[in-house]
Amino acid sequence: MAQSSTSQKRSSKETPRKRLLRALAREELERPPLWLMRQAGRYLPEYRALRARAGGFLELCLTPELAAEATLQPVRRFALDAAILFSDILMVPFALGQDVRFSENEGPLLEPVGGRVSAQLDLGRLPERLAPVYEAIERVRLSLGPETALIGFVGGPWTVASYMVEGHTSRDFAAVKLFAFREPGEFAGLLDLLVEASATHLIRQVAAGAEVLQIFESWAAVLGEREFDAWCIEPVRRIVLKVKAACPQVPIIGFPRGAGLGYKRFVERTGVDAIGLDPAVPLDWAARELQPYAALQGNLDPLLLVAGGEAMRQASERILRSWGVGPFIFNLGHGVVQTTPPEHVATLVEIVRGWRA
Ligand code: CP3
Repeated sequence: MAQSSTSQKRSSKETPRKRLLRALAREELERPPLWLMRQAGRYLPEYRALRARAGGFLELCLTPELAAEATLQPVRRFALDAAILFSDILMVPFALGQDVRFSENEGPLLEPVGGRVSAQLDLGRLPERLAPVYEAIERVRLSLGPETALIGFVGGPWTVASYMVEGHTSRDFAAVKLFAFREPGEFAGLLDLLVEASATHLIRQVAAGAEVLQIFESWAAVLGEREFDAWCIEPVRRIVLKVKAACPQVPIIGFPRGAGLGYKRFVERTGVDAIGLDPAVPLDWAARELQPYAALQGNLDPLLLVAGGEAMRQASERILRSWGVGPFIFNLGHGVVQTTPPEHVATLVEIVRGWRA
């Protein structure tokens, strides 16, 4: 009761609700909210300095003060409409007891799981091992301005399972697909465990102060139709159900990157409130087939943000003209890349802020 009367008071006067939350509630806006996947990271000199201070990437993620600072850096510099928790999708396997390392040159390296996977992993330790992540969220909420929303996240079970079985970013996904085809029972058990772990992690993030959640299914594109349904849509649907049962007010963004025609089934079946779209998704198609059912998020090519100039401006305006009336959240079609000049991000912010529906 107390909570609902506070939020009513807020929405009737004083602080206007955060733009990202308003877009996710399908309100009509004069301009869309803007944030960028991987908005914190090595393209920012202040991030590189912080990373050097922390020593390793895992240490950075597990030191609340530093993780909070990395979360806030891009918001401070660019006044984006959302902060995204500085962490990683591979913190879940780490919390399940898998050996996870981040090498400067090779990316993530995990001790591959195989055979009887459930015997190697322990769900019970997750909340305790991720306690510093929840503390980072509490710290960020204390420092964020009233107009900026905080996004928590997990990786989708298929994407996380691929790292757990392959041990690194894969080119052909042969190890994880062969494991799934040859030992369907074990693979289903791994996905079940990841559904539980992901739902628990998301609910804890909300309890700590996350206001919006995103599920990154970065490797959805490599699956056939039946596998996409069974290994991607179904586990995500179950996560959404669990999280909505515990926190019905928190909107969820799904991002099955590269899902192609599968985006439509993903939206219809998972119950997500918004859908992240990669740069290959045709603008007209998404406006017609997806926007009536879910808010759209995307889909500027991250390399246009590296290039900047007229190419970036024209592509951004095309997206704004097609989707801008909403419900829509301006973003890239994948994460910010390391060679992105920070000035180009500032220009993109001006373009989106200056646009009017
Ligand atoms: O978006 C943000 O700013 C928040 C933080 C965030 C990171 N990773 C920080 C990170 C988020 C949301 C992620 C998600 C993530 N991690 C995904 C899904 C999104 C996507 O890009 O597809 C995936 C697949 C991972 C796994 C991962 N973590 C890889 C492949 C790598 C190495 C390659 C790379 O991009 O650097 C990481 C490490 C990582 N995660 C870094 C950062 C800032 C670089 C670490 C460093 O400083 O050395």
